[in-house]
Parts: sequence; C-alpha cells; structure tokens
Amino acid sequence: MKRVGVLVSGSGSNLQAILDAQKAESLGAEVRLVISNIAGVRALDRARDAGVSAEVISHRDFSSREEFDARLIARLKEHGIELVVLAGFMRLLTPKFIESFQIINIHPALLPSFPGVHAAKQALDHGAKITGCTVHFVDSGCDTGPIIAQRAVPILDGDDEETLGARIQAEEHRLLPAVISAIAHGRVRLVSGSRRVEGSV
Ligand code: GRF
Repeated sequence: MKRVGVLVSGSGSNLQAILDAQKAESLGAEVRLVISNIAGVRALDRARDAGVSAEVISHRDFSSREEFDARLIARLKEHGIELVVLAGFMRLLTPKFIESFQIINIHPALLPSFPGVHAAKQALDHGAKITGCTVHFVDSGCDTGPIIAQRAVPILDGDDEETLGARIQAEEHRLLPAVISAIAHGRVRLVSGSRRVEGSV
C-alpha cells in the first residue's frame, strides 16, 4: 500500500476525512506519519486518536527554509513515505523538497482563480457565482501545479466567508480522499514533460 505522509498546520478536518477513509478501507493507501509545523493544533490530536504517528517540526526552530525542509524530508524518508499530502499546510516548500516526493495539495477555490490565502473571501469579493476546490500536484509555485481534480461549489446570495468556506470544505472532504485513492490505484498520472494529468478520480 502506498505510504502517505500528511503535512498540516491547523484544524485538520481534511486530515480527518483521509483518516476516516482509511478506517473505512476506501483509501487504498496508509497514512504513516502526520507532521505539523505548529504545536498544539487539533490535527495532531486527530492523528493520535487514529493511532497514526504525529509530530511537531516547528519552522521557527530552523534558521532557513532549506534546513526546515531537510528535517521534514529526513523524517518522511525514515517512514518510507511515497506520497506527501498538504492538508492545510501553511508553508511554501523548497525545490529540494519538491524533487524528493510526489506531493499533492488541496486548495479552496477553482484554480487558477483565487490562489493563495483567503480564497473564499477572494471569490466573494470578486462577485463570482461559482467557486470550489482543487487538488493539484505541487510544483515550485504557490498553488500553480498540475490540476488533478476539481469540484464546483455555488456561491449563494447572502453567503459570507464562513458559510461559503463550510460548503467548500464539505466538498474538499470528499475530494481529497478520492484523489489519494485514485493515485494509490494508479488511476491518475502526470504525463511526463507536461502539465497534463491523465485519468479521472
Ligand atoms: C482547507 O480549506 C484547504 O483547502 C486549505 O487549508 C484548509 C485546511 O483546513 N489548504 P483543515 O485544516 O483541513 O480543516
């Protein structure tokens, strides 16, 4: 089974969706390690409650991004991780990290619209009528990597960041485990030398 490492920085509701899928035996992959760059976040409790190794590696303990990433790489390799999932991980990764693993990220908008932080607010401020979520392979940019799968979410009259964010997250929780399963079963793959992802989730 593909060995998965999940990087988090916060509440970990997407991590929970992955752990639930693993428990239901629908993930087709095994979460071996969860790393948070922030101590005390709920994601760490969720991992431990599911019996998954969880640890804190604080970026503040390192004097450079390269040194922080080197520690992450070392811990992930020690656990034999093949696929790294960014599930609300709020740090940019160095090229060295990106070369070291297959990495996917979940973003709360239909990329390439509304990259970066506060994506739901960006969609509302723009007056968009539809937004959604995207799972993509990670490259050296911020939310720029090849798109694997997307789900649309309507923006309703009266939505605020909270109501829209909750509706997007509900879709994220279905999409992210489904993408991990599709990768684990070889149903999606990146066409080499291109940004095209073949296959479907
Ligand atoms: C998600 O909305 C994800 O799209 C973004 O960060 C959020 C993490 O939420 N990258 P959670 O920690 O999984 O609840």
